[in-house]
Formats: sequence, structure tokens, C-alpha cells
Amino acid sequence: MPTLVYNIGILQTALGSSPLRGEAQGVNKKYKNAAVLIEDGVIQAVYENGETPALGDDAVLIDAKGRLATAGFIDAHTHLVFGGWRQNEIPLKLKGASYLDILNAGGGILSTVRATRSTGENELFERSMGFLDELMGQGVTTVEIKSGYGLDKTNELKQLNVIKRLANSHKIGVVATYLGAHAIPEEYRGRAAEYIDFIIKEVLPIVKAEQLAEFCDVFLETGVFDAEQSRRLLTAAKNMGFSIKIHADEIDELGGSRLAGELKAVSAEHLIATGEEGMQALSEGGVIAAILPCTSLYLNKTFARARDMIAHNIPVAVATDFNPGSCPSLNMGLCVTMAYLKYRMTPEEILSAVTINAACALNRGDSLGTVEAGKRADMVIWNAYDMETLCYRMGSNLAATVIKDGCIACTNDR
Ligand code: NIG
Ligand code: FE
Repeated sequence: MPTLVYNIGILQTALGSSPLRGEAQGVNKKYKNAAVLIEDGVIQAVYENGETPALGDDAVLIDAKGRLATAGFIDAHTHLVFGGWRQNEIPLKLKGASYLDILNAGGGILSTVRATRSTGENELFERSMGFLDELMGQGVTTVEIKSGYGLDKTNELKQLNVIKRLANSHKIGVVATYLGAHAIPEEYRGRAAEYIDFIIKEVLPIVKAEQLAEFCDVFLETGVFDAEQSRRLLTAAKNMGFSIKIHADEIDELGGSRLAGELKAVSAEHLIATGEEGMQALSEGGVIAAILPCTSLYLNKTFARARDMIAHNIPVAVATDFNPGSCPSLNMGLCVTMAYLKYRMTPEEILSAVTINAACALNRGDSLGTVEAGKRADMVIWNAYDMETLCYRMGSNLAATVIKDGCIACTNDR
């Protein structure tokens, strides 16, 4: 049964299956008065200038009412499965405590680890389903979710099992990342290297055998894991067949970007503190920079140097980083506006960042991220007539109708 999304004022999309870098990141195709033909969840053809195909009576018609349509947005970096919240940290921050001060005092990530360990799998699943509803309602059709709030074997596997259940239960597409090296667990305090050994020997093989994650990530940061420990972990993970991501240069620049380039990580993420040498390494390694503007906002930090990254031919993706400590917001639209104002990216570059480059950061460039024949039919009709308006309407949810695999997944339209 074919579906036709028709009467699209502007259909704006990046093109291709590879990460877009440099000037190419700012090139989008803009079809006017367009329509998209879908069959079995796959895009069959794109029409423009009012053309439409002849269809039988069984066709499903979706009227875009002259508005903007794009590929579904992809949130390529979240920590969405966790217990508790951390509003108690705000007064500490306002008194001057830094993110790492709070972590070193046993709070921060470690307090979410305690809360996640003491929350049952079903409860974690139910609240995460709610978060996914919120994301999808804003036009996000695929999301990456990291573990990293269990740390011990039982609780990391519990978190990864929740992610697997979410993937099987929610319409949104889910990609799992194992981030066991997110913090040094209290039971390993002062023994980070031993914890890395434990992950390599005891946890990674199970995660692989049970296919609980495609990616392995590490928090390479002052007081967390250093470059040597990260290299050891990621090399072992790579040898087991995982793709690699690194939380690099979020607060301090400790060689995370260099390591990402050296190991040919799929993406390096955060990059708030990345300087010239790090950018060179990312560029040479073909690493995607997944940058997270709402984390800079929330941590009161500077913003990643997106313009310099684009000038260095680094493909840039933009994501939420949703988590209870450094970005308790699922507002993808706000990230888009921050990318416009603070990263000074153009609307075209931003669209590439939250679609094709984000898809490539999840190894999904072949099937997701653009509106082209052969790709999955993940699309959004927006309550806007152009991408500029979408970037400008700070904090408002302009997603009107969200289409996942060719079907209406949710609609805020009236
Ligand atoms: O991406 N940096 C490490 N992980 C998260 C924060 C996690 C937390 O504070 O709970 C981040 O910012
Ligand atoms: Fe993160």
C-alpha cells in the first residue's frame, strides 16, 4: 500500500550516505512544492514542482499543507536510561562547585549510579519510554542511548537490557552504546586501571555475545579515565568488533581527540575544549565531531568551535546529551537554535548535522539521514515554512507530524 506525502512547500534535505564535511556540510537540496512516495517504509521517489504519481484508491495520503518537510532528526548522543534526578546539585553549582568537584565528592554521575542501581528494570523501562515519546514528539526518529549508570556487571547489563527492550517496544529507532567506563565506581576508587581490566575481561565479552551494544564509549577526562586507559579499553573493544566513540575534551583537553583520530573512532563527542592539534587529529582520522550545545549552556562553559571544525573538514553532528547531570533537557529544537546562535552554523549545516552526519555517527548513513529513494521513510512535517524559522523559534516544538518507517508515528497537528 503506497503512501504519498504531498503538498510540501519546501522539502529540504542533505544528500548521500557519507558524512558531510567542509563546504559540503552547508549544501542541502531544496525541492519546492514537493511530494514523497513511500512503499513498505522505504522512500521510492521524490517529486517537485507540483508533480505527483498516479496512485490507486488504496494509497495513504498525508497533506503537508504547504509547509517544510525534512528527514527525521537523529539524536546521536544521550544517556537516557537512569534513575533519579540531580536538582540537588544546582545550589552547589551556584555556590561555585564545578562539575568535577561534585563528581570527586561522590556526587554527580556516582549519585545517578546509586539511583540507577536501586531502580528496577521495569521502572527504568517505563520512564525511558516516556522520554522517547518526548523526543519523538519533537521530530526525532532515531536516538543513540548510552549505558554507564550501572558500572558493575549486573547493573550495566540491566541498563543495556532496558535499552534493548526500548528498541523492541518504541517506534523510535534506538542504537545502543556501552559506556561502562563512564566513571570509576566507588568499589574501584583509586583503581581505574583495574576497573578497565574488569570491563575488558568480564563485561565487554557478554555485551558482545548478547548483542547489547554496537558501540563502546569512554569518558576520557580529568579524574576519570586517562588516554592510556582509554586506548587499552577501546583497542580491546575494537578487536571484539565494537565501533568506537569517545567522550573527549568535555572539560579538559587530555588527548581524547588525538586518540579518536589514532583509533579511527566513528565519533568524538563534546569537544568543548578541543584546540588546533585535536582538530587536526579528528580531521585526519575522518572522525565525526558530535557536539552538544545544551551541555555547554547548562555547564556554563564555552561552546565547541564548530566553525573551526567545519573549516578543518571535520563533519559536525549536533545532539542533546540528555542526562540528569550536564543536560537534563530533551529539547532537540533548542540544540538547533543553539547551533545557529552559538556555533554560528547555517540552517543548512545544522540540518546536515542533525540528519546525515548524526546518522553516520551511528553507522546508519546508508539507510537514514536524507530524503532520497532507497532510504527509510523517516520524515517530519514542521509547523514552519523554512529551515530558518525552525532554527529561530528557540525552545518551541515545531514538529507537526512525525513519520517513522512511512507511517505517522505521532502528530501535534490540528
Ligand atoms: O556527557 N560526561 C559524561 N557524561 C555525561 C554526563 C553524565 C552525568 O553527569 O550524569 C555527559 O556530559
Ligand atoms: Fe555524554
